[in-house]
Amino acid sequence: MAVLMMVGCTYDDLDSLGTPRDCDAFDVSYGGDILPLVTDHCQGCHAGGAPSAGIGFETHADVALFAEIMLDRMSRAEGDAELMPQSGKLDSCSIALFNAWIEAGKPNN
Ligand code: HEC
Repeated sequence: MAVLMMVGCTYDDLDSLGTPRDCDAFDVSYGGDILPLVTDHCQGCHAGGAPSAGIGFETHADVALFAEIMLDRMSRAEGDAELMPQSGKLDSCSIALFNAWIEAGKPNN
């Protein structure tokens, strides 16, 4: 699954007609999709004066700089010690949106 995610818009959240369920990765936006994901799932540890691993994901520039390594950690298998967030893997749509944003050139939109 992680390999499929890397090459494009592949989802496992499909309805009976095979349509991605509430997962529109063709119109991804930083403010609407990426920042809320990072705020909800990453900034609890990766922000502030003493962020985990010494890395804060607070501004668009931070997220753009670390995007590939963030995606790598989000794409680890459940149970992998390096999976982020540590509490459990994000849904496939969130990971697909993050990948789509990178492929779109990490716009600040
Ligand atoms: C509960 C706290 C916590 C949350 C939430 C969390 N992280 Fe982490 N993160 C850590 C800790 C602790 C480390 C250092 C240990 C390690 O590398 O696994 C780390 C390390 C990392 C690293 C490695 C940095 C390096 O130098 O190699 C990346 C990338 C990362 N996290 C991304 C994320 C992303 C993306 C999210 C949200 C999807 C996230 N983390 C959510 C605690 C957290």
